[in-house]
Amino acid sequence: MGRIYDATWGRAFAALYDRSLKGTEEAGLGEMRRELLADAEGRTIEMGAGTGVNLDLYPDAVTELVLCEPDPHMARRLRGHLAEAGRRATVAEEPAERLPFPDDSFDTAICTLVLCTIPDPAAALAELARVLRPGGRMLFIEHVRSEDPGTARWQDRLERPWRFLGKGCHCNRDTLATIASSPLEPDAAEHDRMPKAPPIVRPLIRGSAVLPTR
Ligand SMILES: C[S@@+](CC[C@H](N)C(=O)[O-])C[C@H]1O[C@@H](n2cnc3c(N)ncnc32)[C@H](O)[C@@H]1O
Repeated sequence: MGRIYDATWGRAFAALYDRSLKGTEEAGLGEMRRELLADAEGRTIEMGAGTGVNLDLYPDAVTELVLCEPDPHMARRLRGHLAEAGRRATVAEEPAERLPFPDDSFDTAICTLVLCTIPDPAAALAELARVLRPGGRMLFIEHVRSEDPGTARWQDRLERPWRFLGKGCHCNRDTLATIASSPLEPDAAEHDRMPKAPPIVRPLIRGSAVLPTR
């Protein structure tokens, strides 16, 4: 989107992000994040880490953490959160579609509420598969296109205004299908609901996908 949109709404979106999700986090999303991240291990990369909502939830089994966040307003808050938490991590202000890391260099990749926003999720998943080692896992929580045709129709109708308000978030993506057609194989995926969220972003998938060994 445009430069003025990025400079004004982009800045406000980053500033309001944690507050706008607070009720949802407290009503259950925070617990889902905790359960998901408990399985992270080794060298770990998070895509679109935002303000760093996941930071405090990484287990000790994570030996090194790389946070990819291309939005400068989000990245500034992420660095602030890192400093407050006294946590060591590398912030890469790069899009997930173009990761500046070698092949097979991570054990775990994290995607939470990000494949809805990344402009080219198929390219991002291909890139994520490139940097994951064979047998490595992607752990995800993503809001997705509804399985209910009526809700899906509303997601299609409201996609444009929601995308404007949500700083590029598409509420109607069939993300599980995108994961299934990527080099990763979903090995556990559960349909759930995002608590205390508007109906068009309530349908949720959470689980993991593995990069098959060659
Ligand atoms: C809805 S926020 C989610 C933030 C965080 N992952 C969470 O769980 O709360 C979406 C994030 O994706 C980031 N993003 C947008 N385009 C991206 C891209 N091409 N690659 C990686 N991240 C991107 C945005 O800057 C934003 O921080």
